[in-house]
Amino acid sequence: MQDFSFYNPTRIEFGAGKIAQLQQLVPSNARVLILFGGESAMHNGTLDEVTAALGNREVQLFGGIEPNPSFETLMQAVKVVKEQHIEFLLAVGGGSVIDGTKFVAAAALYKGDAWDILLQGGENISAALPFGTVLTLPATGSEMNKGAVITRKSLQTKLPFSNERLYPQFSILDPIKTYTLPPKQVANGVVDAFVHVMEQYLTYPAQAPVQDRFAEGLLQTLIEIGPKTLAEPQDYQTRASLMWTATLALNGLIGAGVPQDWATHMLGHELTALYNLDHAQTLAIILPEMLRQRKTTKLDKLVQYAERVWGINQGSDDDKAEAAIERTREFFESLGIKTRLSDYRLGSAHIEAVIHNLQRNDMTALGEHGDVTPAVCRQVLKASL
Ligand code: NZQ
Ligand code: ZN
Repeated sequence: MQDFSFYNPTRIEFGAGKIAQLQQLVPSNARVLILFGGESAMHNGTLDEVTAALGNREVQLFGGIEPNPSFETLMQAVKVVKEQHIEFLLAVGGGSVIDGTKFVAAAALYKGDAWDILLQGGENISAALPFGTVLTLPATGSEMNKGAVITRKSLQTKLPFSNERLYPQFSILDPIKTYTLPPKQVANGVVDAFVHVMEQYLTYPAQAPVQDRFAEGLLQTLIEIGPKTLAEPQDYQTRASLMWTATLALNGLIGAGVPQDWATHMLGHELTALYNLDHAQTLAIILPEMLRQRKTTKLDKLVQYAERVWGINQGSDDDKAEAAIERTREFFESLGIKTRLSDYRLGSAHIEAVIHNLQRNDMTALGEHGDVTPAVCRQVLKASL
């Protein structure tokens, strides 16, 4: 096992009706800004419930944070925070709203050009406003981690950043608030959580048996409950399991003490920035071929994944790895998420722009060994056509 430092201060309030806890969780005299996305939180009543729970506090609203939240929109929120002397932020939504809120929390107190936060991956954040979240979409884990991903539309750039000051103070997870999700977003959430586990698990053996078993348990749970929660969106127990599984997939626990990959994510961000694919769609396209192109260095873990997660015990190591990669692709397809670039009307003519942007963003030595170069990414994309 590798050395590690593990710290996660986010309080989780999980269960039906937990939004009422905001009364105790948000400081009683704070000037609060509620940040949300499009119309969903208004239509399904979540926003009303949140404002009711906040009682007499001075509350303002900032809506319109888009999926793959943009620097351009978020800087408007930063302006509101400064002008209105906001003291506490409350994100109501999915990963995009929560990520956007993390950026606003840091940018509101940042002296200098806020885009530098992205250029330096968040290392230059020395203060952030306190914030909490009400999660409406199980997928990213942003509700219990210190990371975020922001897009600058004008530059077609999507960059991650993280900082210990960006853990939410609390997150409210009420599975009922996810019942209104369209099936596509539920499937996106299953795929995103699945790939988060894979990025931290499918590298090379690191004598970390408990991390491996945690990861395999999360993967098997997603395989089991993914189709079920799509078929029965209002089955509370299944939806509750999805919500907690997605949180555990990226709250730091399973990644402590093990090597991590993240090449699929970094390449996926470029596809979203250029061609506007959903985050999970990019992952479903890239992961299978990313594993295949790197089969030699990942073989030990691919075989373990095949045997323990998919129960594949026949054939050579290579046979097992191949079968596991195909089962992974079939799983994504079975959820309704297509796994080929051509399914999204992208062809070979779209690949070079992705490679160019990887280089521009210094994403040239990705993966657990730093050997995923733009040339490897080109191969992955060609194989994903
Ligand atoms: O905008 P509204 O109207 O709210 O609609 C949203 C949005 O269109 C809708 N939605 C959310 N909750 C709903 C709902 N519709 C009906 N009922 C509900 N209860 O869902 C759509 C997608 O929302 P979004 O927040 O964009 O999805 P997701 O949670 O998948 O977040 C994706 C973003 O998170 C980033 C991604 O890159 C992407 O920008 N990620 C953040 C990570 C992190 N912070 O750790 C890690 C991830 O790898 C990921 O990169
Ligand atoms: Zn992700």
